[in-house]
Amino acid sequence: MTLPYAEPYRIKMVEPIYQSTKEERQKWIKEAEYNLFNLKSDQVYIDLLTDSGTGAMSDKQWAEVMLGDESYAGSRSFQKLDKAVKDITRYNYFIPTHQGRAAENVLFSAMVKEGDIIPGNSHFDTTKGHIEFRKGKAIDCTIDEAFDTDIYHPFKGNIDLVKLETVFKENDISTIPFIIITVTCNTAGGQPVSMENIKAVSRMCKSYGVPVLFDAARYAENCYFIKEREEEYRTKEIIDIAREMYSYGDGMTMSSKKDGLVNMGGIIALNDESIYRTAITFNIMYEGFITYGGMSGRDMGALAVGLYEALEYDYLASRITQVQYLGEKMAEFGVPVQKPIGGHAVYLDANKFVPTIPKEEYRAQALAIELYIVAGIRGVEIGTVLADRDPITRENRYPALELVRLAIPRRTYTHNHMEYVAAALKTIFDSRDQAKSGYRITWEAPIMRHFTAQFEKV
Ligand code: F0G
Repeated sequence: MTLPYAEPYRIKMVEPIYQSTKEERQKWIKEAEYNLFNLKSDQVYIDLLTDSGTGAMSDKQWAEVMLGDESYAGSRSFQKLDKAVKDITRYNYFIPTHQGRAAENVLFSAMVKEGDIIPGNSHFDTTKGHIEFRKGKAIDCTIDEAFDTDIYHPFKGNIDLVKLETVFKENDISTIPFIIITVTCNTAGGQPVSMENIKAVSRMCKSYGVPVLFDAARYAENCYFIKEREEEYRTKEIIDIAREMYSYGDGMTMSSKKDGLVNMGGIIALNDESIYRTAITFNIMYEGFITYGGMSGRDMGALAVGLYEALEYDYLASRITQVQYLGEKMAEFGVPVQKPIGGHAVYLDANKFVPTIPKEEYRAQALAIELYIVAGIRGVEIGTVLADRDPITRENRYPALELVRLAIPRRTYTHNHMEYVAAALKTIFDSRDQAKSGYRITWEAPIMRHFTAQFEKV
């Protein structure tokens, strides 16, 4: 008999969460202008808004918090982190930042200028935001399979080499400062990129003289998928897979709030000395001195430990199994989800779930709101609201995928919570025919509108 899945940790401290009533939630979401970001966390029962900075730290990480050295320059905690980052990535230089987008801000200040083109696999919105803010252009070269939620492909985050080479050939190569590989690819559904693809992309980029950067927010989960799905990596240690992956690139930015297993932090690591020198000046201006960059010593210590814990096989197996379990359970109920299930989240396909709602009325947003009202679960729209307006025409951009992401915080919720989420979705799915109208935007910010947009019912 094979024993069932169970978490490789036990719980030492608990945080109560409030189970509200449907009436309360109807009132609260209206007060929140129908934007789930505006809810108070106490108004949410199961918070799947993001897996970013929402995980639980281990006893060893908390022990590092107590050992934090808060010296302004050259702290012991910085040295621990510096050693860990260089040991894992094998890059020569490390710059700490307060989170992932800050790493993008600092590094892109040194590398991106007006008119530049940065190809990649479905850039995350802050990455794209930092490129477009500098009047550069992000070009999506993800394989087509990623945009059909029903097709099974083991590495839907892969870059299409033909699309990439077309970008190289059709543009002045000096306007392409680097390409960015996001591992795993959040925007495409938490989908991994294969080592084979990373190698091929790296080879092509070398032949054109274009550097490769990783957006490494969920790199450990990506390495787990490589181990599980690529034959030649089956017996390799996750950390060695990570080192090999980084060896095909020239640097990385990382939001440590995901696979760093901490609540706040960011990383830049790279090999090029002159870019490093330019970037540290921006770091001092935007983040803080180069040995803390917006992080406190105690947080750097916890991150130094978290980076290694996130590469442990048992941790990753449990993490990914939990997400897969939720996704498969929903698929069993007939709920349309992105397949295969991604690493950090289950993505509901709103185009298939509620085709009865006009796409101009933000289907995915409407579904996310319904899930909150019915069960107190907070997910996030990854569709038209997130895709924002075209920077030139100011028209709504309708992405190929209209998704609701249910991101699972690391080491935070139990198996029973997953059962609850799946059952809630089944309830909504069974009455989906009644959904006829969605929402309209009453106010929005000129960039990254999804965080603060306000809506009303149509
Ligand atoms: N890159 C990726 C792939 C991300 O998923 C994120 C954040 C960032 C960069 C930016 O990092 O938040 O530390 O500034 N993703 C979060 C999410 C917000 O919910 O997916 P950050």
